[in-house]
Amino acid sequence: MLSKLPDIGTTIFTVMSRRARELDALNLGQGFPDYDIDPQLTALVAAAMSAGHNQYAPMEGLPALRERIAGKLAASYGISVDADSEVTVTLGATEAIFSAIQAVISPGDEAIAFDPAYDSYEPAVRLAGGRCVRLPLAQPGFRYDWERVAAALTARTRLLLFNSPHNPACTTASAADLEALAQLAAARDLLVLSDEVYDHVVFDGARHHSVLQHPQLARRSFAVFSFGKTLHATGLRVGYCVAAAPLTRELRKVHQFNTFSISHPLQHAIAGYLDAQPRCGEALAGFFQAKRDRLRAALAHSGFSLPPAQGTYFQLLDYGAFARDDDLAFAERLLTEARVATIPLSPFYAQPQRLTFLRLCIAKRDATLDEAAARLNDFATRLGRAGA
Ligand SMILES: Cc1ncc(COP(=O)(O)O)c(C=O)c1O
Repeated sequence: MLSKLPDIGTTIFTVMSRRARELDALNLGQGFPDYDIDPQLTALVAAAMSAGHNQYAPMEGLPALRERIAGKLAASYGISVDADSEVTVTLGATEAIFSAIQAVISPGDEAIAFDPAYDSYEPAVRLAGGRCVRLPLAQPGFRYDWERVAAALTARTRLLLFNSPHNPACTTASAADLEALAQLAAARDLLVLSDEVYDHVVFDGARHHSVLQHPQLARRSFAVFSFGKTLHATGLRVGYCVAAAPLTRELRKVHQFNTFSISHPLQHAIAGYLDAQPRCGEALAGFFQAKRDRLRAALAHSGFSLPPAQGTYFQLLDYGAFARDDDLAFAERLLTEARVATIPLSPFYAQPQRLTFLRLCIAKRDATLDEAAARLNDFATRLGRAGA
């Protein structure tokens, strides 16, 4: 059969998680917590089902949840969004990304993504008939080169795919980056899809810059968020997309035929949880920063180097001091010889860059992080001895 995505296999996240299970390795690969969620949320889900909220939810999302989301954005970013016409509840951020792209990309259109790019962007663009133009972020430090972006724009460019805090680079975009993005988008009348799923996970006292706070960008952006990340529960599959009313109208035309509506009891439970814990997002930066610092301290003398991590619940590990293997090969060695699963960065690139980075997920119990660090230290000692 003719495939619409002939070059797309199973994602690296699924492959690594499967291999980790087979080898009984510690899984610091796929981004999900290995600790329990707040029992209050579990109780609210059970209560919502017992109360009978088990039939279709409204297509655009439960009004009570959309109100709480608007309240959360006001509290976090001082912005006012209209819960009725500008907030849509989606099946995780993944559906928000997919539906927004289907809503605005037509055959022949181009979208720009910055590599290393989250893996769902390009397939969504291609399924809409568009072409995804991939521009690598500049090394060192995964920086935006806005002149290069301007040079890559064509008459067919319609959408810029932006992500901050950035997975897997662990960087955060600066106010100057947002300004440059805004100027380009305004000058060429482009739309922006801003993936902000780690909006609360920004470290060292810095603040997240949302496109929704920027008047020019707010008008032309879909901003995408995930309760999976915010509530430590990636299996909930509840996210949301915030966009100006004309964009939201187009998004909902796709959303209603893609997923139609999102789990009704879960939406009740999350609305109730945000009522009970209106500031739950604010605790995330400190929570994950402590985990980042714990892992960095435990690996400080390993010989691996640890690039700065400004946000997200990941930390990059640079193995360049030990080996020049490509990252897929080195990740395989870590998996089989150290029994630690990681995520190599090359699958996030259209043209792999021969970088020596692996991504570690820090959303794990302290004991898991300590054990992973012990295994990595041990492996590094063996590599050092072997002069590898
Ligand atoms: C950058 C980024 N965008 C989107 C997603 C998808 O989020 P969700 O699990 O809510 O679909 C993830 C999940 O890891 C992510 O890291």
